Amino acid sequence: MLFFSCQSAGLEEEPQPIETGAFELDLPTYMSNVRLPEDNPLTHEGVRLGRMLFYETALSSNNSISCGSCHQQQFAFADNKPHSPGVLGSSTGLNAMSLSNLIWTNHLNWNGSATSLEEQAFMPLTHPDEMNQPIAESVRKLEAKDLYPPLFQAAFGDDKITGERIAKALAQFQRTLLSTNSKYDQYLRGELALTERERNGMQLFFMHPEPRIGLRGGNCGDCHLGALLAGSRRGFDGFHNNGLDSDENLKDGLKAITGMDYDKGKFRAPHLRNIALTAPYMHDGRFATLEQVLDHYNEHIQRSKTLDPLIIEASNEVIEDFDAPIKLHLTEQEKQDIILFLHTLTDSEFITNPAFSNPHR
Ligand code: HEC
Ligand code: HEC
Repeated sequence: MLFFSCQSAGLEEEPQPIETGAFELDLPTYMSNVRLPEDNPLTHEGVRLGRMLFYETALSSNNSISCGSCHQQQFAFADNKPHSPGVLGSSTGLNAMSLSNLIWTNHLNWNGSATSLEEQAFMPLTHPDEMNQPIAESVRKLEAKDLYPPLFQAAFGDDKITGERIAKALAQFQRTLLSTNSKYDQYLRGELALTERERNGMQLFFMHPEPRIGLRGGNCGDCHLGALLAGSRRGFDGFHNNGLDSDENLKDGLKAITGMDYDKGKFRAPHLRNIALTAPYMHDGRFATLEQVLDHYNEHIQRSKTLDPLIIEASNEVIEDFDAPIKLHLTEQEKQDIILFLHTLTDSEFITNPAFSNPHR
C-alpha cells in the first residue's frame, strides 16, 4: 500500500492511504439508481486525475483559468457572477451552472446541448469565451509537465495523453460530486425534523394550487421534481419556458437543439440543490436573490407563445379573466416559507469536502 501526505490538508494531518481500483458511489436509497457509461468506469485513479485536470489552468490558452474558476466549490461549483469571463475577458452570456448530482442529468447545459459529461467537457475547453485552447495544445502542455504522464498511466493503463482521456477523467471526477447531506436529505432519512415554516414551504413548493377546493401551492414541484428538485429526465420533458421574457425578447433555448419553434424560450429546469449558494439565478443570471426569483414566479410572469401551461393555469385565486396578467397570488409569508425550504437544500459538507477541493494548492 502506498502512502502520501495530503498537501491541501496541511502537514499536521496523518498520511492518507491512496485508494485504487473501482470507485463506488454512495447513493442514497431515495434517489434512483443510474447506469454509468460502460466505456468510462469510475476508478480512484481516474477520479484523482480528473480532479487535477478540473483545477488545471494549463488547459486555458493563457494559463489563467481552470474549470474551477467558474465552478467554485464554495458556491456549490457555480459562480457568484451573472456571467463568468473566459480567458479573453468575454463571456458566453450564460450563468455558470452548479455542478452536483450530475449522474442524474442526461441533457447538459441550459439548452441541453450536450448529452454526456465527456462530450460537455470539450465545449468549455475550446470555446473562445471560455478556456479557448485547441485540444491538441492542451495535450502538448500536459505532456510537458512531469505530473501528468504517470497520472494518465495509472488511470488508463499507459501514459498516452489524448483529448478523449482528458474528457473521460474530467467526467469521472464530476460524477463523484454528490450533494446528499443537506438538511432536506437528513429530513428525508428521518434524522431530523424541519421547522414548521420549512415544512410549510416544502408543501407549498410541491403543491399545484387548487383554489376551488382551498389547496394553496407554489407549483414549483411541477417542474423541479423529486428529491433532486430537477427537471424530468425523460427526453426533453425537463425543458420549459418559465415566463422570463415576452415574445420579442425570447431566446432560442431548446430550439437551438431541436430546431422546433415550439421549443423557443425553453430552458432546462435545473436542480435546486444548494440553490441558496448559487446566486445569481436563471440561464443569464438575471436575478440576484431568491426573493427576486419568488417575485418573478408570483407576479412578473411574461406571456409568450411557448409559456408553460403549468404556469398559465396555476393560481391561488380562481382565474376569471384569462387575458389578465398571470399571478400565483402567494402571500409574502408564503414566499418567505418557500425560501426557507430552499435553504434546507444547502449541504455544507459538500462545499467543504476536501476530496473536491483544488489539489494543486
Ligand atoms: C468561463 C467560465 C467557465 C469555465 C472556465 C468552465 N465552465 Fe462549465 N459552465 C459555464 C457556463 C456558463 C455553463 C452553462 C453553459 C451552457 O448552458 O451552454 C457551464 C456548464 C457546465 C456544465 C453543465 C452542467 C449541467 O448541469 O448541465 C458542466 C458539466 C460544466 N460546465 C463543466 C465544466 C468543465 C469540466 C470545465 C473545464 C473543462 C468547465 N465547465 C469550465 C462556465 C464555465
Ligand atoms: C413550468 C416549469 C417551472 C415551474 C412551475 C417553476 N420553475 Fe423554476 N425553473 C424552471 C426553468 C425552465 C428554469 C430555468 C429557466 C432559465 O434559466 O431560463 C427555472 C429556474 C429556477 C431557478 C433558478 C435556478 C438556477 O440555478 O439559476 C430557481 C431558484 C427556481 N426555478 C425556483 C422555482 C420556484 C421556487 C418555483 C415555484 C414558485 C419554480 N421554480 C417553478 C421551470 C419552472
